[in-house]
Amino acid sequence: MKKKLHGQGLPCRTLVPSSNRPSLSDNQVFVVFRFLIALGFAALTLAAPALAAQKAHLSIDASKSGAKIDRNIFGQFAEDLGHGVNEGIWVGPDSKIPNTRGIRNDVVSALRELKVPNVRWPGGCYADEYHWRNGIGPADKRIATLNSTWGGVVEPNAFGTHEFMDFINQIGSEAYISINVGSGTTKEAADWLEYMTAAQATTLAKERAANGHPAPFKVGFMGIGNESWACGGNMTADYYISQLKIYSHFVRNLNPAQRDKGRMLRIAVGPGDPDTQWTEAIMKAYQHHGWSWDIDGLSLHSYTVPTGWPPSTPSTGFGVDDYAKTLKSTLAMDDFLHQQEAVLDQYDPKKNVALVVDEWGIWHAALPGTNSQFLVQQNSLSDAILASLNLNIFARHADRVRMANIAQMVNVLQAMILTDQQKMVLTPTYYLFKMYVPFQDASVVPVAFDAGNYTQGSVSLPRLDAIAAKDATGKLWLEITNLDPAESIEVEADLSGIAAKSAKGETLTAPAVDSINTFETPRTVVPKPVAGTVHDGKLTLTVEPKSVTVISFEQ
Ligand code: AHR
Repeated sequence: MKKKLHGQGLPCRTLVPSSNRPSLSDNQVFVVFRFLIALGFAALTLAAPALAAQKAHLSIDASKSGAKIDRNIFGQFAEDLGHGVNEGIWVGPDSKIPNTRGIRNDVVSALRELKVPNVRWPGGCYADEYHWRNGIGPADKRIATLNSTWGGVVEPNAFGTHEFMDFINQIGSEAYISINVGSGTTKEAADWLEYMTAAQATTLAKERAANGHPAPFKVGFMGIGNESWACGGNMTADYYISQLKIYSHFVRNLNPAQRDKGRMLRIAVGPGDPDTQWTEAIMKAYQHHGWSWDIDGLSLHSYTVPTGWPPSTPSTGFGVDDYAKTLKSTLAMDDFLHQQEAVLDQYDPKKNVALVVDEWGIWHAALPGTNSQFLVQQNSLSDAILASLNLNIFARHADRVRMANIAQMVNVLQAMILTDQQKMVLTPTYYLFKMYVPFQDASVVPVAFDAGNYTQGSVSLPRLDAIAAKDATGKLWLEITNLDPAESIEVEADLSGIAAKSAKGETLTAPAVDSINTFETPRTVVPKPVAGTVHDGKLTLTVEPKSVTVISFEQ
């Protein structure tokens, strides 16, 4: 062995003319050679993920177009929970943190970039213990209550109806109000809607004007309760249906500007995950609905909890095994939607009732050292990839899934933004949502692909996922997720129905699946530019391991 290496070592000596260097003994040559071999191995190992590339073939027919990807599937959820609203959005007008009427400027300007179509508030479970009157009127007259659902902390109610509407206005979004069915009354909810939306001089409308807003507010969406089968009152489906009929009839949006086109959509409580019995009951009732009650949507709550309840996966400091299990678990969303749609199609074949996935996302264990009731978690590249897979699933179900709300917006669960006092950091999920903005209201273009599977331990996953869509200007957009954490993919796509000349966009990846952005290192996971080549109706593009890429085509 030693001898053989000795012989192989000879070429090394030819690298530098022997006249320019002291001559080496045989033993020294052997040592140097071993070092070089080791160096070579190390270089190869490090370069391996970049060198190895899988191939994938895609076909995109841009002459065909499917359902519209409703912009409302990019909705968000901001519950009065932990530091989601208080501190995350609301700091109060006297705060040293730059704000506009008490709402953080940094958070607002980041969210404006996402074109957030709607924001669901005040809950969640908290909605069924929220009493709107505590949160209106002069700041010093607000009624402080306890947030019994989330940690029993004092809720000052400084962020109430007017502040929420101001926030919605500042970020350019629409209000999705969840009304209290669990511990409120129909009258309380009807009064809230009248307070917010009446244009005529009713006593409640005058009170709103006296509180600073003479014009009626616009309420785009109204959720009638939340998880009424659990935290919203532990109701049976039949009991909830009787409540639904009453609330749907009496709780009215009175804003004249919302009479026809911008009509407020009413969303009934739907099931959690695979429960189809609840759906069946609601839809059976819906089948016989008349002029006196109606709904426009049915909600579905489906979190990714890879190890089951209670959530126990860490949000950072994990490896590719946990990553694969998590993605496998999130792909179940597709089955959940199919199961729900089968029931909806039976009772509502015309698809009048939208499926509204108004709580989704990864639910990890709370970060050590935080109040476990505040649901604080970090947000990694893995979470962004998970978000891309879910958004793609929603896009493929776009004819029925017309709205969704990721849980949640700031500092809670799979958040877009994390804050700590005056510090703010944008998460990988934030950047993912930003890359998907062009898909808002774009029409699905069919894309066929086959890239095989990648296997991690006992988990086998599709190597690649993709969606394509055409925006209102006719521009074609393509999204490609490479799930494989180790190998890049050389994509070759046949393009028909479009005379494309070039393709460019952005890709989101990072050194590791659990890479995160922190206050100190906020740019570990950020999108970077990427370009493909287009020749003779074929796109060629290399996508990096564990990445999300969005490109558009120039014609
Ligand atoms: O998003 C956190 C909680 O999860 C919501 O309040 C509740 O609706 C769900 O169970």
